[in-house]
Amino acid sequence: MLPTRQQDNTGLEEAYYRLFREFFDKAEKKRRWSIRDDIPWDQVNPKLNPAIADVLETFCTVELYLPDYIEKAWPLLRHSRGRTWFHANWGYEEAKHSMAMGDWLIASGQRTEEQLRAVETQVSQYQWNLPHDSPIGMVLYGMTQELATFLHYRNLRQCVENEPVGDPALSKILKLISVDERAHHNFYLHVAKLYLERDRHGTIEALRRVIHTFKMPAVDMLADSRRRVQAIKELKIFDEDMFFTDVVKPLLFELGIEWAEFRERKPNRRSISAPSLP
Ligand SMILES: [Fe+2]
Ligand SMILES: [Fe+2]
Repeated sequence: MLPTRQQDNTGLEEAYYRLFREFFDKAEKKRRWSIRDDIPWDQVNPKLNPAIADVLETFCTVELYLPDYIEKAWPLLRHSRGRTWFHANWGYEEAKHSMAMGDWLIASGQRTEEQLRAVETQVSQYQWNLPHDSPIGMVLYGMTQELATFLHYRNLRQCVENEPVGDPALSKILKLISVDERAHHNFYLHVAKLYLERDRHGTIEALRRVIHTFKMPAVDMLADSRRRVQAIKELKIFDEDMFFTDVVKPLLFELGIEWAEFRERKPNRRSISAPSLP
């Protein structure tokens, strides 16, 4: 169980809380946006390529697992103010993403209200579970997944803009969401550095597990998941090669971890600081 800031003698919880406050202040000043006021809804293109709408529906559906993303992580983070407050703020932003995408699907006529409600019902029948059961695992997973998610939205926006007739409303939604996803990634990247400073070997060990088992959240739980993943690849939004070149390599660079160090496997080598950080 995580210690409170007062109980933690590594300084990690205090540093986490400070990072959260910086993240929050910056978000309030530069990143807040309104679904109602900041999207040019009068410029929705009802004839946009339906393949783009299909992928958008997949992204919207993945965001509908928000109750699980919150509920399952909560017990793990419970005593850390920085982590729970960050997660609450993160949840607000993710909720906005799913609402904005759902609104576009309806405004464009690509989906009806009834179709979206049917998707919600499907989602409510399955539960997403945490891919890692430790706070450090979830930080490193969050760092990796948010960067991959940023790329998904950035590349989908590129598809919209490559169309003969684009969609300024959807372009704006995807731009705003991708900026949020990048900010989520940056936050977790800074937290990962806090872990690295305190326990380099343990952190790299945990990162190996995250990278080697990585998959995007909930995509395999959706109806037609194979077709959905294939559609994402066909539009060149994301695939395994991009995961390596645009996620893993930049991450290691940002963290100052050489490839050779990342690949090194010495199961008997223990972290210097024992017991390892949560
Ligand atoms: Fe999101
Ligand atoms: Fe995110």
